[in-house]
Amino acid sequence: MEVHESVYREIKKSGCQGWGGSSFNMRIRGWEEQLDKIFKLIQLSGNRVLELGSGAGDVSLRVAHRGYNVTGVEISPTAVEWAKQKAEDDNLNIEFICQSVADRTILGGEKFDLIIDGNCLHCLFDEDRVAFYDNIERLINLDGYVFISSAITSNEDEEAPKISPIKRCFVNRESIVEELRRRGFGLLEEWSSIGTHEHYYGLFRRSK
Ligand SMILES: C[S@@+](CC[C@H](N)C(=O)[O-])C[C@H]1O[C@@H](n2cnc3c(N)ncnc32)[C@H](O)[C@@H]1O
Repeated sequence: MEVHESVYREIKKSGCQGWGGSSFNMRIRGWEEQLDKIFKLIQLSGNRVLELGSGAGDVSLRVAHRGYNVTGVEISPTAVEWAKQKAEDDNLNIEFICQSVADRTILGGEKFDLIIDGNCLHCLFDEDRVAFYDNIERLINLDGYVFISSAITSNEDEEAPKISPIKRCFVNRESIVEELRRRGFGLLEEWSSIGTHEHYYGLFRRSK
């Protein structure tokens, strides 16, 4: 079974509200702060928002409550069903799709004004990371924005660390900025936080 799927089955069974288990409320407060910051900094020309790695839907839900038309892509079927239920409970019309963000066919020719990395990039290794960046380039509107929220490291030689309890791919801040620059995105603002690991937040705008 895919590793995230088994984690979602476990946290759902134990009565938690979503990703993060007992830290759920703290995580969501953190996301609310990030969303406040993002929407203060940008001016979208349309209202379509895509979350990559939308999990049990909690970030997408909060974006939809702000009035945006939201789509989420997530690999775990349990998480997708959970997210759909939460959207229905909140009377929100959000499209949650069960597919890998590394699938180069996701969402066909659709375009979005803002793409949010729902802490998913650091779940991806090797070719999947390349496909993730390529999908962002393909799915963004000409004047769209991308928000990256990713654990990073300044020492890439370290063994891949684990977060709850899955192996993650930590790269440095420079390689994230460079991957996006090569795909036509300029850095607008960036900030970081330090907890059990260093976490990078970067807001980018398509510049060509
Ligand atoms: C740290 S969790 C965050 C979930 C949600 N964005 C949130 O903040 O509550 C990262 C999510 O990415 C999903 N994920 C990991 N690899 C993926 C892939 N290849 N395609 C789609 N989703 C993936 C995981 O299943 C998980 O739901």
